[in-house]
Amino acid sequence: MKNVYVERRQRLMDAFSPDSVLLVPSAHHTVRNGDVDQPWRQDSDFWFLTGFDEPDSVLVLRPGHASETYVLFVRPRDKEAETWNGRRAGLEGAVATHGADKAFLIGDFDTELARICEGAQEVAWIFGRDSAFDSQVLRAVRRHRTHPKLRINGPDRLTDLSAALWPLRLLKQPEEIDALRRACEITAEAHHEVMRLCEPGRNESQLQAALEYVFLAGGGERVGYGSIVASAENATILHYTENRMVIPDGALVLVDGGCEVDQHTADVTRTFPATGKFSQPQRAVYDIVLAAELAAIDTCRPGKTFHDVHDVAIRVLTEGMVKLGLLHGEVDTLIKENTFKKYYMHGTSHWLGLDVHDVGGVHDVTSTAAPKESKPLLPGMVLTVEPGLYIPMDDLDAPAPFRGIGVRIEDDVLVTDGEPDVLTRGCVKQPDEVEAMVRAAPRWVKPVVI
Ligand code: GLY
Ligand code: MN
Ligand code: MN
Repeated sequence: MKNVYVERRQRLMDAFSPDSVLLVPSAHHTVRNGDVDQPWRQDSDFWFLTGFDEPDSVLVLRPGHASETYVLFVRPRDKEAETWNGRRAGLEGAVATHGADKAFLIGDFDTELARICEGAQEVAWIFGRDSAFDSQVLRAVRRHRTHPKLRINGPDRLTDLSAALWPLRLLKQPEEIDALRRACEITAEAHHEVMRLCEPGRNESQLQAALEYVFLAGGGERVGYGSIVASAENATILHYTENRMVIPDGALVLVDGGCEVDQHTADVTRTFPATGKFSQPQRAVYDIVLAAELAAIDTCRPGKTFHDVHDVAIRVLTEGMVKLGLLHGEVDTLIKENTFKKYYMHGTSHWLGLDVHDVGGVHDVTSTAAPKESKPLLPGMVLTVEPGLYIPMDDLDAPAPFRGIGVRIEDDVLVTDGEPDVLTRGCVKQPDEVEAMVRAAPRWVKPVVI
C-alpha cells in the first residue's frame, strides 16, 4: 500500500545532506483548567510527516543514516495512564505500527539527541514555535562547543526547517485534495442545514450547534477553527465568535465555519437573510460581494499570482462601494490610497490545508525585488477566496440603509492546469438559491424553542 508519510519524509530528506538531522516535535496537551485539557489536536507539521496522533513525541529524520533514518521518541506504555486517558503506541507500536526504524522513550530525548547530533553537520527544526524545544535542541548542539575537551563533533549549521517543509505542504498531493474535498462537501451540507434551520427568533448558538452537528454526524472530525455565527450588525465584526444573540427579524446572518477531515479543514462563509428574503439594500451589498468573489475565483489560475486575486476583488468591491454611495471619487485613486479598506479591511485569500491559515508564504521566494513579488499560483495550491463588505452601524458617513450590514462569501479553490476547481461549489450562493434554502425545512436537526 502506498504510504503517504514515507513519501513525504523522503521528499523532505531529499532537500538535505546525508549528515543532517531533522527534528519535528508533536503538539502537547494544554491545560484548560484543573485536570481538564483543551481539545487535543496533533501539530500539523508532525502529522504531515508521521500520521502519529500522540502528544509528547518527537520525529527525528537522519537522511544518511544506514539503519535509523526514521526515529520516533514516544511516551512509554503505561497501563494506568492508558486506562485513564487513552491508548499509547509505546516503543513497540512506534516501530511495528507506525514504521519507525527505531523508537526511544521521550524521557531519554536530551541524552539521545546529544548522541544523535554528534557527527551531524546540520540540525534543522522550526525555530521559535516551542521555546522549550528550542532550548533542548540548542543545549544538545552546543555540547561540542561548551565541552571542547570531550573532543566530540557537532553541527556547524542550524537551519529553520520551514523553508524546506512548508513548500511541500503548499503543493497538495492527491490524498490531501481528497481530504479537503470531503471536508468541503460536509461543510457545504452543514451550511445548508444552518440556512434551513434559521428563522428570526432563533439564537445564533442554535445555528452553531446545527453547523457543528452536521460536521461530526457527516463524518468530519472537529471544527477547523472557531465557528462564526454573526447576525445583524455582529456580521461587521470579522472574528465574532460569541454566537449568543437572538437573531432579529430582517437580519442577515453571516456563518463562517469549516470541518476537518483527516486533519484538513474547509473554510466556508455564507451570508443569508434570516427570513428567506433579502431586503433591497442587503441584496445590493450581497450582489457586489458575489460579483467580486466570482471575478476573484476566475483569477485562481497558473499565470496569476496570489495578490492578483486580491487586486481583482478590491476593484469590483471598490466600484460597488462607489455605486452604493459608500465611497466617493475615482476608483483607481480609492484603491491606490487604500480608501476601500474602510469597508473591506482584510485580505481576499489565504492558503488552506492542514491549517485554516495554511503555511507556504505569499511571497515569491525567488524574487529579488524589495518587497518580494507575490507568489505565482501553481496547480495543486488551495486557497480561499473571501471578499466581504462590512458597514458599521455607527458609520454616519454611510447611507442609512446600508448601516449594520456585513456580508462575506468564502469558497475554497484548487488551482489546476485548467479551470479553477471550486471545492465548495456544492454550497449555494446565488441569491435565489440561498433564499430557497432558508425557506426549506431542516433535514438533520429537529428545531426546538428555547
Ligand atoms: N475563518 C477564518 C477565515 O476565514 O480566514
Ligand atoms: Mn478564510
Ligand atoms: Mn472563513
